[in-house]
Amino acid sequence: MTANDEASMKLLHIDSSILGDASASRHLTKGAVERLRAGNPALEVTYRDVAAAPIAHLTRPADVDPDEDSTRALEEFLAADIVVIGVPMYNFAISSQLKAWVDRILVARRTFAYGPEGVSGLAGGKRIILAVTRGGFYGGETGRAEEYAESYLRAVFAFIGITDIQVLLAEGLLFNPAARDETLTRALASGSFAS
Ligand SMILES: Cc1cc2nc3c(=O)[nH]c(=O)nc-3n(C[C@H](O)[C@H](O)[C@H](O)COP(=O)(O)O)c2cc1C
Repeated sequence: MTANDEASMKLLHIDSSILGDASASRHLTKGAVERLRAGNPALEVTYRDVAAAPIAHLTRPADVDPDEDSTRALEEFLAADIVVIGVPMYNFAISSQLKAWVDRILVARRTFAYGPEGVSGLAGGKRIILAVTRGGFYGGETGRAEEYAESYLRAVFAFIGITDIQVLLAEGLLFNPAARDETLTRALASGSFAS
């Protein structure tokens, strides 16, 4: 990477927790962005809070007739080299606000294409960091079958051609609230933030 490339790196930071300042995923995304910024002070950061400023649900196909939410969310995403996303687990899945954002970035002919060979991803080359937070534990066999947040987003980003996906995982936050700080510190320490 040249000095010029580094100077023009763009990061998109997305939060989706409904818990405001008490949010664990907001803590992790903030920490991740701070660390990435420390490694590259010229990083251009765009922030989107889909809980505070919700994106409307789709009412028509974004590939056929994009509205302002679709255009802006998609252009921000396409411009980003790194995307840091807060992924709180609500009712086994991602927040509905984050789902509304996903609906704006999975757009035929922009981030994926159908062809005779099947689907090809058009958004490769980005780096994704998912800050996944959940109250329980989902590492066991039963847990894995009930986990629709991290697994869903892995499928979404693989579908559009992104292979560089890092997960900062803080789980058991409600089972063991006394260990919250330690759990969050460990999740951040598990990350690799070199640019
Ligand atoms: C509406 C709601 C639903 C939740 N559903 C689950 C769940 O299905 N599984 C789980 O492990 N934790 C669940 N939790 C706990 C959250 O995952 C936990 O509080 C986590 O910290 C959320 O991330 P946040 O603090 O960034 O919002 C739920 C919390 C809320 C508020």
